[in-house]
Amino acid sequence: MAFDPAVLRAGLAVVERRADQLTAYFYAHLFAHNPGVRALFPERMEEQRDRLLAAITHLVQRLDEPERLAGYLTALGRDHRKFGARPEHYPAVGASLLATLRRFAGAAWTEEQEKAWTEAWTVISQAMIDAERAVPADEPAWWQAEVVHRRWAAPDVAVLTLAPDRPYPFTPGQYLTLCSPRVPQVWRPYSIGCAPRVDGTLEVHVRRVPDGLLSPVLVDEVLPGEQLRLGPALGTAVLDPYSRRPLLAVAGGTGWAQVKAVVEALAQRGDRRATVLLGARSDADHYDLDAVRALVDRYARLEMVLAAPEDGAGRAEAVALVHEGLIRLGDCSGRDVLLSGPPDLAPAVAARLARLGADPELVRHDPVPDTLDRSRPASAAERFLQPRDIAWINRTELG
Ligand SMILES: Cc1cc2nc3c(=O)[nH]c(=O)nc-3n(C[C@H](O)[C@H](O)[C@H](O)COP(=O)(O)OP(=O)(O)OC[C@H]3O[C@@H](n4cnc5c(N)ncnc54)[C@H](O)[C@@H]3O)c2cc1C
Ligand code: HEM
Repeated sequence: MAFDPAVLRAGLAVVERRADQLTAYFYAHLFAHNPGVRALFPERMEEQRDRLLAAITHLVQRLDEPERLAGYLTALGRDHRKFGARPEHYPAVGASLLATLRRFAGAAWTEEQEKAWTEAWTVISQAMIDAERAVPADEPAWWQAEVVHRRWAAPDVAVLTLAPDRPYPFTPGQYLTLCSPRVPQVWRPYSIGCAPRVDGTLEVHVRRVPDGLLSPVLVDEVLPGEQLRLGPALGTAVLDPYSRRPLLAVAGGTGWAQVKAVVEALAQRGDRRATVLLGARSDADHYDLDAVRALVDRYARLEMVLAAPEDGAGRAEAVALVHEGLIRLGDCSGRDVLLSGPPDLAPAVAARLARLGADPELVRHDPVPDTLDRSRPASAAERFLQPRDIAWINRTELG
């Protein structure tokens, strides 16, 4: 690597305290110099988290881990086709980023900084552009999918069945990103809530986030017959297909969707034991119970544990119940583990499982935003991100 990650981190540390102004300046600069790019971004930018800029900060933190970074950039570059990002946009975004950092770092912006950021941007951009070019010619930038069915699973959760216009490849445990023409350019991730089906349909479980841009539209407004766009399947929280180890899955709220997909796939094979611990805030918060029962009936080696405190109990009681359930499982060594739910679920449960002998190498979950891990001191780049809110599954759910 030609550039020194420490130099980049030092640059971020200088500007971190003015993150909000920096973000506003970055987008103003980008759109003023490249008016054509504005249409690729959502209309209501002020309500958007600055995903692009936050991601760049996230990347700078990970420049020391080239292997993980390479996989991440490949997925990101492939995924960026759905935004309409073109190779010629990368230098434009890079120029705005550098102009922004230069302005906000003031006297601290040195030639060394300029050189390191230019090189880093070139390497990162090239990896994303190469990934985009490597996509097979017949793979679309997004899939068109019809909503063929919508059912209420709970007062604030809708299960949507989607029929993509062409085969949609995914592995159980992955998530997709969705966009509705009712809210153009607003893409959000949702776990795929089923194993691959013969008819090609798939389902997502969406919980309404009050004041959210997309989830209320998906839960309350989108009707059967409407079209949505799907980005390519993402995520690495999938099971090792060759493993014969028993599975332990712990899910909270709509985290059930991801677990359901994985357990459905295991039920088709039927050769492994699986234990699922499903946590919720109350009995009423447990949803999709018909599907839960159907899986238990069909898959003799599945043990399903539902954990929910009395109505009116707080989140702490719900969390305590899940922890109690884990302790009752006893020794967790030698199991594949899948954790799914609100962002603070995975770190909390993983720590508990480590004490019960679970092998950290066998624990899978979707990426947890750094900002939510408050157990260690924030680095400069983390502090840069901290004021922002991270979207995930319902924060009011069990975690
Ligand atoms: C890998 C992954 C998988 C996911 N899978 C699912 C899934 O299967 N089902 C599901 O329902 N969601 C899932 N989510 C969350 C989903 O992607 C959206 O973040 C969520 O639907 C909110 O989107 P929105 O556009 O309605 O809200 P936004 O417009 O993004 O947010 C509006 C406001 O609400 C706040 N906010 C955002 N999210 C939440 C939240 N969860 N709780 C409380 N406040 C919030 C924001 O900070 C902001 O102030 C997943 C997220 C990730 C990263
Ligand atoms: C090295 C370069 C880049 C990196 C690391 C990067 C990273 C990211 C990431 C991680 C996201 C969030 C994805 C999500 O929420 O699903 C994102 C969103 C986005 N990116 Fe990029 N990106 C880069 C370059 C570009 C370029 C060149 C364009 C084209 C103009 C672009 C356009 C977008 C758009 C439109 C979004 C959605 C924004 C939103 O929802 O607010 N990105 N980017």
